[in-house]
Amino acid sequence: MTQAYPKVSIIGAGMVGATLAQRVLESGLADVVLLDIAKNMAIGKSLDLSDASPITGHEMTVIGTDDYKNIASSGIVVVTAGFARKPGMTREDLIAKNSQVVKSVSENIKKYAPDSIVIVVTNPLDSMTYLAYKTTGFKREKVFGMAGLLDASRFIYLISSELKVPRSSVQTYMLGSHGDTMVPILSKTSVSGKPIRELMPKNRIDEIVKRTRERGAEIIKLLGSGSAYYSPSAAVFKMIGAILADKKETVVASACLDGEYGLKNIAIGVPCKIGKNGIEKIVELELSQEEDIAFRRSAEAIKSSIDIL
Ligand code: NAI
Ligand code: 2OP
Repeated sequence: MTQAYPKVSIIGAGMVGATLAQRVLESGLADVVLLDIAKNMAIGKSLDLSDASPITGHEMTVIGTDDYKNIASSGIVVVTAGFARKPGMTREDLIAKNSQVVKSVSENIKKYAPDSIVIVVTNPLDSMTYLAYKTTGFKREKVFGMAGLLDASRFIYLISSELKVPRSSVQTYMLGSHGDTMVPILSKTSVSGKPIRELMPKNRIDEIVKRTRERGAEIIKLLGSGSAYYSPSAAVFKMIGAILADKKETVVASACLDGEYGLKNIAIGVPCKIGKNGIEKIVELELSQEEDIAFRRSAEAIKSSIDIL
């Protein structure tokens, strides 16, 4: 593989990992290494993705492998390895199995790609992000998780469908955990600058918040096997784009806090400016009293998950 393009390694060549690989390759953003414990599957997907390139018209390279040597010199490593929820499971039900996976993956990232920025996707997202941070020993700016961007996107889509307005006109933040306690910041949710509370009755907002919280489970139930991957891969793709183009774009990421929001020793969804160094700045939003209480409750839930590790 030449190094003319940046290199993004994706650990886990399942639904999220392979769809992300397709997005990265077809956008011409970076060369890709697709690594999976199931080696042949990763190789097979890399051949299929390569065969599409003359049609889609890019010159990127993709390698399928189970050998971590191939991730050396990656600028970004995305962790999607692990198990996805089955219908009826919570994200927390995955902790025992996925913590073993994320620990071993993180040890390999530390060894083979020590200068990379790590984006964690594996669930339960916030505790797995914290585990990857601790295991790699990387600076906290360089290890973060993807979730709030996805949860906000789901919320925005549902609001825009309800109000029949362009998705681009809706602004919001979804903070806290990627779980049942995620916190919609209604005080900062607006459509073309108008507060959402002036546009929708409380009961409808509550219903849309509930549907957003349960969107992942709704999709899992409909799919029958596996969980969402188009929207999760789109969210990670946006983060990769922000890093590679040094956009310093503010998106919600699960960040390892060291005093921000009055919290330490936790990874939790907060707005972050993302650029070439990873998290360039954690943005401390002013929350309403109700939002602050909900955010702290969410932090407690993540702490309990981290305590299990
Ligand atoms: P998937 O089952 O399609 O793919 C996971 C892949 O990881 C499999 O190919 C498996 O062979 C591989 N794997 C397992 N152990 C491994 C190891 N030790 N080393 C390397 N590869 C290993 O699952 P999918 O749908 O891609 O989801 C992946 C993870 O991402 C799940 O934990 C899921 O819950 C989570 N997820 C998180 C989201 C978020 O918003 N943060 C959104 C969607 C999924
Ligand atoms: C989701 O929210 C499974 O966490 C994943 O779709």
